[in-house]
Amino acid sequence: MSTVQKKRVAILISGRGSNMVSLIEAAKAPDYPAEIVLVLSNRPEAAGLDYAAQAGIPARAVDHRAYPDRARFDAALDAELRAAGIELVVLAGFMRVLTPGFVESWAGRMINIHPSLLPLFRGTQTHGQALAAGVRLHGCTVHYVVPELDAGPIVAQGAVPVRAGDDPDSLAARILVQEHRLYPAALALVASGRARLEDGRVVFADGTDGPDGALLTL
Ligand code: GRF
Repeated sequence: MSTVQKKRVAILISGRGSNMVSLIEAAKAPDYPAEIVLVLSNRPEAAGLDYAAQAGIPARAVDHRAYPDRARFDAALDAELRAAGIELVVLAGFMRVLTPGFVESWAGRMINIHPSLLPLFRGTQTHGQALAAGVRLHGCTVHYVVPELDAGPIVAQGAVPVRAGDDPDSLAARILVQEHRLYPAALALVASGRARLEDGRVVFADGTDGPDGALLTL
């Protein structure tokens, strides 16, 4: 029997949920330091909800359109998370901006994946931004969530070369493969305590610059 102390994790999605799937798959390993105990979507039609339910994970929509403002939507999310005893919140393609109050109350306990090498190319259409800038390396970043969008302390990054002839779709597809490797590795670092926040930066427990998947290259 495993003696790993597993952190109780909720994944927040808005759509397809392919990163969510990679996390659910990784968390099946007996020695993985997190268990996925809840999936929430702000969109009832999100395909990821069906997958999670079929995997036996409680999966619910908290439809943002049913709430008069962001604060009340976030309060509903917060109530779900606390009722489920959630210790870590993982945003995976969650397309709602969260209020500063919500973010502060989960500070140091909420991470996100963003499809660029932050701090380059915040916001949306990151692959188009990268192509327009002419960078030779692009990628994805897992970071702690802070009130400023795509600006939190970086846990892990995956780099992907930009090829001649790439368009936003081809680049997105190549980076998604990297996202699916990076996010489970990064969540393991955070959930196990091997990565932690210190003075607004991420440090690793063993004093190195990031073992076990904090840096991936293709
Ligand atoms: C990913 O590219 C992620 O980096 C971004 O939104 C996309 C979500 O894809 N935040 P999926 O829903 O995980 O398939």
